[in-house]
Amino acid sequence: MRVGVLTGGGDCPGLNAVIRAVVRKGVQVFGYEFVGFRAGWRGPLEGDTVALDVQAVRGILPRGGTILGSSRTNPIKVEGGVERIKDNLAGLGVDALIAIGGEDTLGVARELHSRGVHVVGVPKTIDNDLNATDYTFGFDTAVNIGVEAVDRLHTTAESHHRALICEVMGRHAGWIALHVGMAAGANVILIPERPFDIDKVVEYVESRFKTRYAPIIVVSEGAHPIDGQMQLQTGERDAFGHVRLGGIGQRLADEIEKRTGKEARATVLGHIQRGGTPSAFDRVLATRLGLQAIDAVRDGDYGKMVALQGTDIVRVASTRRPRS
Ligand code: F6P
Repeated sequence: MRVGVLTGGGDCPGLNAVIRAVVRKGVQVFGYEFVGFRAGWRGPLEGDTVALDVQAVRGILPRGGTILGSSRTNPIKVEGGVERIKDNLAGLGVDALIAIGGEDTLGVARELHSRGVHVVGVPKTIDNDLNATDYTFGFDTAVNIGVEAVDRLHTTAESHHRALICEVMGRHAGWIALHVGMAAGANVILIPERPFDIDKVVEYVESRFKTRYAPIIVVSEGAHPIDGQMQLQTGERDAFGHVRLGGIGQRLADEIEKRTGKEARATVLGHIQRGGTPSAFDRVLATRLGLQAIDAVRDGDYGKMVALQGTDIVRVASTRRPRS
């Protein structure tokens, strides 16, 4: 049995832990061979491979990013893309594919499965916005990075009696903002699922200043006011049609300064939330998902996504519907 592995979409801490678990169990327990595909779906599309054996996965458990590289390539949008992938897999003797990714990567996996490719999906994203799984790995690490940042913002905000705004990632899901804000004791938490009233935010900020507190706001990059459009950094879209988000933190800071006469500053955490070593929780979750994925291959249980439900790792029908 020859198994291909790829990581697609935005990278996230824990990807290497999945790859390591898949390869180690696959080689040592089942005697499988592996082929690594470079840069997400671009790898199988172009037949771009990298050697993947036990030696290649040594020491990668604490490493952020992905040793396979990643991209947002969408083969469905490429003329003859699916056929090219099928031909390349056949040419390389790959019997099954493990695709590690978010809603886009897994959406492609589902499409390939419906067209006869043997695929198992492993969910990943710092945004934690996939249904059928209670948590995605990467989320816990991103939240911890956000909490550390807001803890630091508290002390400098108090010293200068300023409003400090921390903009976090999450795309259209407020999970990161909500958890960071709750864990770090933010005064205001703004999430995309609930459009905010800027008058109320300013009112609350003013009341905090009056009681000699420096207000801290955690805002999700996708949050938007009730009467306005979502703040976009550019009109640019990726291959899956997602616009680039960002800029709401600065916009809030400008509005707060204008309306309260107090200083306000914005900090954008950006890709810092995706980089670096995974938390212990994410390493364990990623390892467990990897072990289940290779078991699914052994069982010929294709077209499934492995998932965390409660404390169990289960297999579910692959999905790309985001959880709101
Ligand atoms: O989906 C993960 C994520 O990090 C989102 O939170 C964010 O909006 C997006 O990816 C950023 O994408 P890119 O790395 O392509 O700028």
